[in-house]
Amino acid sequence: MALYSEKVMDHFKNPRNVGKLDDADGIGEVGNARCGDIMKIYIKVENDVITDVKFNTFGCGSAIASSSMATEMIKGKPISQALELTNKAVAEALDGLPAHKLHCSVLAEEAIRSAIKDYYDKNGIEYDKAMFPDPTDEDEHAHGDDE
Ligand code: FES
Repeated sequence: MALYSEKVMDHFKNPRNVGKLDDADGIGEVGNARCGDIMKIYIKVENDVITDVKFNTFGCGSAIASSSMATEMIKGKPISQALELTNKAVAEALDGLPAHKLHCSVLAEEAIRSAIKDYYDKNGIEYDKAMFPDPTDEDEHAHGDDE
């Protein structure tokens, strides 16, 4: 069996929505410390709907294919739906990724969430902070300081 599905190869070779939006309403940038890959996602929002989305990914083929697929999946969708997009759904839409490449699709999920958070922050829209846990935030695990 081929390591990568035809869909992964297609989105890797002909990625959709590549580029940047100069008038983006939200920008999300995430990286994976282990492999060093970086993904940046730009969103344009109107009436709570993601009307346009672009990405720049400096990373492996699976990360490029994941960003391409993920941007296709949230384009024209309400923010609430984009927030529900999981890396699993992205990997499934690509007809699967090898196990050691699943983390690449996680970047896509995180970058989208980070762009939405940026949009909320820039527009003073209130949200539940628990919706956007910071993966680098160690405080969550630092219990035991209470008197
Ligand atoms: Fe790092 Fe794919 S190897 S994102």
